[in-house]
Amino acid sequence: MRSLPLGKVYTLLEPGPVVLLSTAFAGQRNVMAMSWHCMLEFEPPLIGCVVSDGNYSHGLLLQSGECVINLPGAALAEQVVGCGNTCGAGLDKFARFGLTPRPARCVGAPLIAECFASIECRVVDTTLLGKYCFFVLEAVHAWISSAAEPPQTIHHRGHGNFMVAGAQLHLPSKMK
Ligand SMILES: Cc1cc2nc3c(=O)[nH]c(=O)nc-3n(C[C@H](O)[C@H](O)[C@H](O)COP(=O)(O)O)c2cc1C
Repeated sequence: MRSLPLGKVYTLLEPGPVVLLSTAFAGQRNVMAMSWHCMLEFEPPLIGCVVSDGNYSHGLLLQSGECVINLPGAALAEQVVGCGNTCGAGLDKFARFGLTPRPARCVGAPLIAECFASIECRVVDTTLLGKYCFFVLEAVHAWISSAAEPPQTIHHRGHGNFMVAGAQLHLPSKMK
């Protein structure tokens, strides 16, 4: 893995992939699937996400104020769905689903070694937490695989249906 400039974090999340959100607090760690996320700012990168208060991850995220957004390739789809259909209270999902936690640089939550990119984040705004369970995160460090081509990501369409990222188009752009 190599560091990814923070200004490029949006390129990972703009297509809306399903991600694995890892959290840790007071000796507990967890991972859940998440697809309700969106970019809010380029740099410093701000990311909005809904983490339901019915999820064990909600409390770990709120109490620690930190998390890692990990990007799985399509080969991890079954593990992702497993993490999205089990509760981490009393269950070590890393062991259950064969995911390897690795220490992050800036936050206490773990990176997931099997993922091709990871974004270390801190919670910076909880204004919409009570109404929507909406956290605003700031990316403080990002990692990307050194492999030439990133794997295809998966995109949730509801009820267990996923699209796998495919063909790309390149058109003239005025984006800096
Ligand atoms: C593909 C997929 C996407 C999901 N996206 C979200 C999401 O954006 N926000 C959320 O709160 N839960 C989402 N979930 C549900 C959680 O992953 C699920 O409730 C999980 O069991 C929570 O784990 P935890 O209780 O260990 O935190 C998603 C589940 C799947 C399968």
